[in-house]
Amino acid sequence: IGSLLLCALIAYLWGSIPAGYWMGKLLRGKDFDIRQYGSHKIGATNVLRTLGKIPALIVFLFDISKGIVPLLLAMLIPQLNAAGWGPSVAGIATLLGHCFPVFIGFKGGRGVATGGGSVLMISPPIFVISLITTIGTIAISRFVSLGSIVGGLTTVICGIVFYFVSRANPTFFVHVSLAQLLFLVVAPSLVVIFHHDNINRLLSGTERKIGQKVAVSP
Ligand code: G3P
Repeated sequence: IGSLLLCALIAYLWGSIPAGYWMGKLLRGKDFDIRQYGSHKIGATNVLRTLGKIPALIVFLFDISKGIVPLLLAMLIPQLNAAGWGPSVAGIATLLGHCFPVFIGFKGGRGVATGGGSVLMISPPIFVISLITTIGTIAISRFVSLGSIVGGLTTVICGIVFYFVSRANPTFFVHVSLAQLLFLVVAPSLVVIFHHDNINRLLSGTERKIGQKVAVSP
């Protein structure tokens, strides 16, 4: 249990690195706080609407890497991976780091890119299926939040279905262990819950479409 706690701590601190927040400061000066604009989040979607495409792409890639690196460490370092639970614990911890970063007052993002990076590490086939439903929903609706919610629900459903199918049929092409199931249910459920204000805006017709700009003071 000590090794899992260490694993969680490292992953949480790693996930806390606030790339979107720092990008705002880098481009607009030290007094700029991206959390005063748009959706008030530090994720790539809000960086896109406040700072533009290239900064958003850089933040997106960095946030994905935050979902990958701690899981890689958990997979490669036996001391961080008690009985195969390390990657799942690391995945949930790095997601919580991104959403509640210790370095900037626990106000971060919603965990879509970071959670997506971790799904890729835990189950590449489920990542691909969820990516397709996410991109498909965004392409049709133009709402990143709706795509993220649909992608999160896809991950949960695939995790549960593939867990039971691979238990009944061990040669099934996707294998989901109990430890992986924990991550595949908890992490995307948190991501969906963290979209509660987007859900309210979607229902009231006030959600911004992808890339819709917001004015930022100079
Ligand atoms: O990355 C989170 C996305 O689904 C929504 O972001 O800034 O529109 O709340 P945002």
